[in-house]
Amino acid sequence: MLERLTTAWGALDLGRYPEDERDNLRAWDAADEYLLRHLAERDISPRGEVVVLGDRWGALATALAAGPEGPPPVSVTDSFLAHRAAQANLARNGLAPDAVSFRTPGDRLPDKADILLVRVPKSLAALEHGLHALRPALHAGTVVVGTGMVKEIHTSTLRLFEQIIGPTRTSLAERKARLILTTPTRSLDPARSLDPAPSLAPGPGPSLDPARSLDPASPLDPARSLDPASPLDPARSLDPAPPLDPVPLLDPGPSLDPGRFLDPGRFLDPGRSLDPGRSLDPGSDPWPLTYTLDDDAGPVSGRVVVNHAGVFCADRLDVGTRFLLRHMPVMPEARRIVDLGCGNGVLGLAAALTHPAAEIVCTDESYAAVASARATFAANGVTTGVFQAADGIGDIAPGSCDLVLTNPPFHSHQATTEAAARRMFAGARRALAPGGELWVVANRHLGHHAALRRIFGNCSVAASDRKFTVLRAVRRR
Ligand SMILES: C[S@@+](CC[C@H](N)C(=O)[O-])C[C@H]1O[C@@H](n2cnc3c(N)ncnc32)[C@H](O)[C@@H]1O
Repeated sequence: MLERLTTAWGALDLGRYPEDERDNLRAWDAADEYLLRHLAERDISPRGEVVVLGDRWGALATALAAGPEGPPPVSVTDSFLAHRAAQANLARNGLAPDAVSFRTPGDRLPDKADILLVRVPKSLAALEHGLHALRPALHAGTVVVGTGMVKEIHTSTLRLFEQIIGPTRTSLAERKARLILTTPTRSLDPARSLDPAPSLAPGPGPSLDPARSLDPASPLDPARSLDPASPLDPARSLDPAPPLDPVPLLDPGPSLDPGRFLDPGRFLDPGRSLDPGRSLDPGSDPWPLTYTLDDDAGPVSGRVVVNHAGVFCADRLDVGTRFLLRHMPVMPEARRIVDLGCGNGVLGLAAALTHPAAEIVCTDESYAAVASARATFAANGVTTGVFQAADGIGDIAPGSCDLVLTNPPFHSHQATTEAAARRMFAGARRALAPGGELWVVANRHLGHHAALRRIFGNCSVAASDRKFTVLRAVRRR
């Protein structure tokens, strides 16, 4: 569905990717609008180096690209679909493809960011990694603003901003969205923090309180806010600060409970989040995370899997995946097998170990997942893998595969995941040779058998227990 978003810099027609006339989902939400409104109202002109982390469907990057002249904003997102959406949105609004510089989390990130805008991702791990990766680009004058729907922003979210970047406050909620306002101070390169060019004017308000938010060496010299090279309009320093949430951050108590954030044993340096004295140490980026599978994981028992931040089930084997691993099909004559929606590549690895002569293609719409699958294969000395970021099966030649394995997405937006699963099944049918098979593991209640029957004309149960079922659909001709 295409809809028009009105911003301070003009109206934009925006859609998701792939565009689907039947869905009524917008390409932006109140959190994106709140952030854009905040930038405009506070005269934070995106004239310096602007980095957007985690833009969902390109609404933020497209709005910034349509805004005041300046270097193209850099958009860092892990999603192939988000990249495609943003590119299509630039095109439909008459903007050049290079009006935004796109990066994946695995690419070289910018050396410098004067404005860092963070659309809070669903995965805390992805946020943790993204903030760590971008921290070296920040200087003391970098304006850091996060945004998300109230239900997406938890104490643990704010704590990551506080811990990795610096003192953090939230705005009041507007239309169930909230802003996160952070002042960079954590372990900044001293040479950089003295860089006089882009500085944040010292407006009133707790998030800009120098006593609280910056060390004595930080450049909050009022004269510097008049620097014409600054990406911030000097008039801004006279603006009232955005309304801040009266609940102060980092109160002791449950907000610092590491159990509500990430299991420290799994993701954080042990003790890092437990010791209040050390909790303000930005620490090191714990990603990627590697672990060894137990001996109840079928063909991959005892094998190592590598997980980049944000990848599905990054710290343990998913129960559904384990169920499929226990009931893996064996097709000795298979020449090409696809791990569709590969995550860390554990199903593809199982296929590679049981079908050493076959080429294994791993596809996922997450670049971090594709990188994880590649690393998992390498960690196990398997060289038969081909790795591709794609929507569903991607551009695999029709009729060229013998077996497709998938644990399809199931827990983001209901309509989106069902549509993605249907696209994956239809793509699998196209890619399979006659006689080729698609094996799907899913929670029993999801009802994928109806979609498979519609697409393939057949669907049988290869295995099931109380919770999971493995469905098998055959391409007949
Ligand atoms: C339930 S996870 C399964 C991951 C992995 N196969 C496993 O079993 O651990 C589903 C995967 O599908 C991917 N995915 C979601 N939408 C997709 C799409 N449109 N195209 C390709 N992959 C997608 C997700 O990124 C995620 O890695």
